[in-house]
Amino acid sequence: MIEGPILAIETSCDETAAAVVEQRRVVSSVVASQAELHTPYGGVVPEVAARHHLGTVNAVVDDALAEAGLALADAAALAVTRSPGLIGALLVGVATAKALAYAARKPLVMVDHLHGHVCAVWLDPVALDPPFVSLVASGGHTRLDLVLDYEAPVLLGQTIDDAAGEAIDKGARTLGLPYPGGPALESLARGGDPAAFEFPVALSGREQADFSFAGVKTSLLYRVRDLGAEAEVRRADLAASYQEAIMRPLAERLVGAASRAEVPAVALGGGVAANGRLRALVEEHAAGAGLRVAAPALSLCTDNAAMIGAAAQFTPAIPWPEFVGEDAIPTAPTGGVAA
Ligand code: KG4
Ligand code: ZN
Repeated sequence: MIEGPILAIETSCDETAAAVVEQRRVVSSVVASQAELHTPYGGVVPEVAARHHLGTVNAVVDDALAEAGLALADAAALAVTRSPGLIGALLVGVATAKALAYAARKPLVMVDHLHGHVCAVWLDPVALDPPFVSLVASGGHTRLDLVLDYEAPVLLGQTIDDAAGEAIDKGARTLGLPYPGGPALESLARGGDPAAFEFPVALSGREQADFSFAGVKTSLLYRVRDLGAEAEVRRADLAASYQEAIMRPLAERLVGAASRAEVPAVALGGGVAANGRLRALVEEHAAGAGLRVAAPALSLCTDNAAMIGAAAQFTPAIPWPEFVGEDAIPTAPTGGVAA
């Protein structure tokens, strides 16, 4: 366990983030979102993301330290997202963290982004202790892990094609909503009937821990095409039914996996976990199974650096100056969280 404040940096996608985390306490957390910059393109443009991180990261780090009332010299260690993510974007964070840690003669922790999403529930005020089953659903990943200890979550299942967030973003686009699609789809769905349209739930089965979202995405596309002009008036119903077809298997398989593993709790993480309908479905299913639900604040579900500071407690720190040869890795080397 690292005693004292950790300065953490996250730049894997389109959020430039820095945080100061001391044990389970988030002392400060600053997130500069580039989402608006990518809206005209309907998705994240890697080159634009990397350039913007470069122009923003120093100010974001300064803000996180200032909000915490600390100087760089006060940090016990630095932590940074090493993988997975956009390579140009990751490199900005890794180069920044290495330079700061080198100059300040501090150890550096190279963190896996998905491990960060799993560890968000370790932070106060949720402060969840293992064992539990974790669902991380983000723009690039959807996975269930059995967490017996925070050091090495064990993969139980994952998406075999699209991530849940990817299906949300593409479905939102089909419905004419702007990027990022998640929050826009959720608010449109609020005015609609989730039972209005039937969308297929892939891999339906009692003991299923894997996911598939490519089919439902295509099915929405066909439905909108078949409805023609009527699709415009039925947008809210389409959004609600589509959201339901994605959130239902997430909630059911999370709770099913936890029951089979005989753990007392389930945890949510990743941007899709900010979705109110998913949270309600998980609460509903978990109550039936007698499980505790641990869900971080919305700001700790979507990308942030506090979760990287949390995962740093469960990842070996590299002493000064041995980290100078460390690099960013665009995809996780083993395809696994922290393993
Ligand atoms: O974890 P995250 O911020 O970034 C990645 O690591 O990918 O997740 C981003 C994903 C996007 O697909 C976004 O549309 C989705 O999370 N998301 C949501 C909501 N807020 C963000 N999906 C559904 N409902 C939301 N409220
Ligand atoms: Zn993420």
